[in-house]
Amino acid sequence: MKPRVLVTRHVYPAAIAMLQEECTVDYHDSHDVLPKERLRRRLQHAEGVVCQLTDTIDAEVIAAAPQLRVIANVAVGYDNIDVAAATARGIVVTNTPGVLTEATADLTFALLLATARRLPEAERHLRDGKWHRWDVDLLCGTDVAGRTLGIVGLGRIGRAVARRARGFGMRVLYSAPRPAPDATAAELQAVHLPLDTLLQQSDFVSLHVPLRAETRHLIAVERLCRMRRHAILINTSRGPIVDEAALVAALEEGLIAGAGLDVFEHEPTVHPGLLALPNVVLLPHVGSATVTVRTLMCTLAAKNCMAVLRGERPDHPVQAGVPG
Ligand code: GLV
Repeated sequence: MKPRVLVTRHVYPAAIAMLQEECTVDYHDSHDVLPKERLRRRLQHAEGVVCQLTDTIDAEVIAAAPQLRVIANVAVGYDNIDVAAATARGIVVTNTPGVLTEATADLTFALLLATARRLPEAERHLRDGKWHRWDVDLLCGTDVAGRTLGIVGLGRIGRAVARRARGFGMRVLYSAPRPAPDATAAELQAVHLPLDTLLQQSDFVSLHVPLRAETRHLIAVERLCRMRRHAILINTSRGPIVDEAALVAALEEGLIAGAGLDVFEHEPTVHPGLLALPNVVLLPHVGSATVTVRTLMCTLAAKNCMAVLRGERPDHPVQAGVPG
């Protein structure tokens, strides 16, 4: 008998076609998120689930799925999943790293440039019919070339952002639990610093750490106070890395100059203080949103799921020591 797989939300069709070759697919083909009770019910007989960062797969949900063998997240981040609860049950959790690195780094840089050069504000100015002539001081922003970018977390995406920064003539600092291997540091010409020193020296700070207990509110009042008054904070990782209320206060009080945010603490709700500020650029979590990348993420999750159900080692388990 084919194993049963629940796909919790709409995905690109190639992933469904792949899964259907080997599995019986229960497809919730909708952009709506399954409420917890319905998710639990539909997981009752599932051996695999292909889920998204909007699905909370906590210990309770896992307990309601006695046959579950694999949780395949269509995302590189997996903070929506209680990995410890899954591991305790021998359930493999997988993610989709690699395929989204360049697209997410592009979006990070787009956000950095848009915030520095006030692009949304400039576009609104034109569309609102307010552009009457060229003025020497019209919508002037901040230089990027020659400035210092502090990258917090030098994983795949952090490194891809560092490469772009070098191309833009920026000096690159980074903080990470361990210094990068010599070859990587030399390629990126990036200098390793403790986080607090990096914050004191950077003109732009870009966050690229996963959301874990120890990174929640990594950037809160104290660290915002360490940043330079003209600094701009960019976040394309996870919203709760930043204490959003503290960020609003810092922006309102001029402790920092601006922020470019693709992720928020309580998505899709955005702090009203952020919505009211002109010096922030706000995007609806579109870091990896190209058709090619999102298709690859969906098919990669399907492949990860199918590998586990076949008894093979998936390409991207998040737990160490997943047997082959
Ligand atoms: C998106 O945020 C992802 O984690 O892939």
